[in-house]
Amino acid sequence: GSASDAAPVRHAQWSSRLAFILAATGSAVGLGNIWKFPYITGEYGGGAFVLVYLACIAVIGIPIMMAEVALGRRGGQSPINTMRRILREDGRSRHWALIGWLGVAAAFLILTFYSVIGGWAVAYVVRAGGGAFSGASSDGIAALFSGLLASPGELLFWHGVFMALTVAVVARGVSGGLERATSILMPALFVILLVLVGYALASGHFSQGLRFLFSPDFSKIGVGGVLAALGHAFFTLSLGMGVMIAYGSYLPRGVSITRTAVSVSVMDTTVALLAGLAIFPLVYANGLEPSAGPGLVFKTLPLAFGQMPLGGLFGAAFFVLLVFAAWTSSISLLEPLVEWLEEHRGVRRGIAAAAAGIVAWVIGIASALSFNLWADVRPLGMFAAFADKGIFDLLDYLTANLMLPLVGLATAVFAGWVLSPRILEGELSEGRGHVFRLWRFLIRWVSPVAVAAVFWHNLG
Ligand code: PHE
Ligand code: NA
Repeated sequence: GSASDAAPVRHAQWSSRLAFILAATGSAVGLGNIWKFPYITGEYGGGAFVLVYLACIAVIGIPIMMAEVALGRRGGQSPINTMRRILREDGRSRHWALIGWLGVAAAFLILTFYSVIGGWAVAYVVRAGGGAFSGASSDGIAALFSGLLASPGELLFWHGVFMALTVAVVARGVSGGLERATSILMPALFVILLVLVGYALASGHFSQGLRFLFSPDFSKIGVGGVLAALGHAFFTLSLGMGVMIAYGSYLPRGVSITRTAVSVSVMDTTVALLAGLAIFPLVYANGLEPSAGPGLVFKTLPLAFGQMPLGGLFGAAFFVLLVFAAWTSSISLLEPLVEWLEEHRGVRRGIAAAAAGIVAWVIGIASALSFNLWADVRPLGMFAAFADKGIFDLLDYLTANLMLPLVGLATAVFAGWVLSPRILEGELSEGRGHVFRLWRFLIRWVSPVAVAAVFWHNLG
C-alpha cells in the first residue's frame, strides 16, 4: 500500500462516491451560479467573458480542485491539520500551512456577504408565495427589488434568518439528512431551471440571449474582466478556501478523484449556463440591461413567474430551491472555522457555530447597509482601483478576485513544485499514470502561470 496507509487518525468517511459528489456539488452550486455568474457575465459583456471563464474552469479550476481533494484525502483531517501533517511527513517548511489559514479567513469573509444575498432569496420566497409577481410589469418587478434594498431592517432580518439556518446545520454537524435532501433538491433545481429555459425559448428572444452568452466579442472584456472570470472560477467551484481539502478528507480510497472533480465541475458549470440561458432572453424580451448588476436575477426571473400559469407556485419553488442551494454552500463556508475552533481551541461545536455565525452576521451588516444607508461609503476610496467600490463590492472583489486566486496560486505551486511527487501520486494514479502526468503538467505550468499572468496584467 501507499505510505498514507500508516496515517494514524482518519475520521469518518462518506458513505460513497455519490455522497462526496453530493456534498461537493452542494458546496459548489449556489448563489455563485444563479445570482453571480449571470450578473458579472452581463457586466463584462457576455460571450468573451463566458469563454475565458470556461477556460479557467478547465485548465485552472479542475486541476486545483484535484489538488485540494487529493491533499484532503492524503491528510485525512481539517484543512489546517491536513497541511501540517503533510508538511511534516514530507519535511517541508511549516509556513505552507498559511494556505489553510488564508482559506479559512477567505471563507469567513465571503460568508458575511453571501448571507446577505441568501437573505434576498429568502425574502423572495415570501414575495413569490404571496403572489407579488403575478401580472407585474418590469417596472413593478424592479420596484419590488429596490424596495427590498431600500429597507435596512428587512435586509438585516432576512440576513439573520439565512445565517440562523446555516448555524443550525453546522452546530449539529453536517449530517446524513442534508445528504438526502441534497440528492432530491439539487435535481429539482435543475428541473426548474430547465422549465425556465423552456420559457425563455418561447419568449421569442432566445437567440439574442444565446448570442449574448456565446458569441465572443473580446473588445468588451478587458483585463478586469479576465481577472473577474478567473476569480469567479475559484468562487463557483469553492476553491482556494480549504473547503475541498476538508471534504476530500472524507473521501474513501479507491474513488477516482479525477472523475469526481470533473463531475462536480461539469454540474456546477451546467447550472450556471442554464441560469444564463433562462435570464438573458428575458432581459432582451423586456428591454432590460444585461449590466443591471447584483439585482439581475431578481429583476428578470420574477417577470417569467408573473406571466406563466401557476407562476406563484413555480416562483416560490424556485426561490426555495435557490435558498437551499445557497444554504449548502454557506454551510461549507462556516464549517472550516468551526472545525478549527473545535479541534484547536476545544470550543464546543454548538457554541463555536453560534459565535462564528453571530460575528459573521454583525460584519455582514456593513454589506447590507452598503445597499442603502451606506451606499456612498468607499472604504478604499483613496486608491484609484477601488474608488468606485462600496463595502459589498469591495468585499466581493477582495475575496473572489484577490484572496481566492492567490490561495489557488499558492496551492498550485505547493502541489506542483514543493511537495514530493510521490505524496500525491497515489491519490491520482488512475489511468496507468497518464492522468497524474497530465495533472502534474497543468498544476506546475498552466495553472500557476495563468494565474500569475492575470495578476500581472491587472497590476500593470
Ligand atoms: N461555490 C459557491 C457558489 O457558487 C460559493 C462558495 C464559495 C461556497 C466558496 C463555499 C466556498 O455559490
Ligand atoms: Na458555484
